[in-house]
Amino acid sequence: HRHLTGIAGLQPHEIIFLLDEAEQWVEVNRTRAKSDKRLEGITQINAFFENSTRTLLSFEIAGKRLGADVVNMQVGQSSVKKGETLLDTAATLNAMRSDVIVIRHGSSGAVALIADKVDCPVLNAGDGWHEHPTQALLDALTIRRRRGSVAGQRVVICGDILHSRVARSNMLALTALAAEVRVVAPSTLMPAAIERMYVTPFTDFDAALEGADVVMMLRVQNERMSGGYIPSTREFHMRYGLTPERLSRAAPDALVMHPGPMNRGVEIDSSVADDPERSAITEQVEMGVAVRMACLDVLTRASRGVEGWA
Ligand code: CP
Repeated sequence: HRHLTGIAGLQPHEIIFLLDEAEQWVEVNRTRAKSDKRLEGITQINAFFENSTRTLLSFEIAGKRLGADVVNMQVGQSSVKKGETLLDTAATLNAMRSDVIVIRHGSSGAVALIADKVDCPVLNAGDGWHEHPTQALLDALTIRRRRGSVAGQRVVICGDILHSRVARSNMLALTALAAEVRVVAPSTLMPAAIERMYVTPFTDFDAALEGADVVMMLRVQNERMSGGYIPSTREFHMRYGLTPERLSRAAPDALVMHPGPMNRGVEIDSSVADDPERSAITEQVEMGVAVRMACLDVLTRASRGVEGWA
């Protein structure tokens, strides 16, 4: 089975293929149509070991719109709480004959570990600091629809780059699609070998914003800082918060993005987040359903006897 554990495993033409596939579902989702039941008979298990609003609900809605039987594992009430290991949990889900498993986990690499142990496609819904591939796909789709193309766009990603699986997957996807990517963080929240990601690092947000076409803001992930540097919210807002004044350094029609959940008044001001012209934040959520419909469809094609990847 082919899995979706990260953008790292995808060729640029495969990323484009998934975005093209997602386009057809945008309108279907907008009209709440449920006439295409191509996943009828498919059992989709969502196993989220970390909290989620957007990713969990959009995977559930995506599966249901296409007719799948969607089951959400209640991790908090599960035998994980009695000490069952991740691999035993995976073997248990596998024995129930699931056809596709969607997993979010706090440990980097946990999703790939499970993918090796089960007989069905596994989709990564975010693993630790590693990857969040469907987030990067929905971000790329949002940029492509709003700006006409991803190629050539100057995209600034600002915030806790070190701990962000969203930043990592976006760096991989956007550079694969030929965007010019700038990443901004305090030096303590910037990965050591960032140049290897083919992006340009900045510690000065104002400098990075010059001529930006897209400004993507990230949340400071306090839950992932064990003993390390935690910036105060006031200090972070002063140096790295997206205010209307700061945004004026970007291109006049620059798009503002945030994967959510937002810390209003910390990394982004409400007046920017809620700007109907510039903010694409709710559109990102909308694209999330379409992208996940495409991923569920494409990843289960082989097992449904339909031709798979292009
Ligand atoms: N963007 C994102 O992954 O949000 P959730 O944590 O709410 O799923």
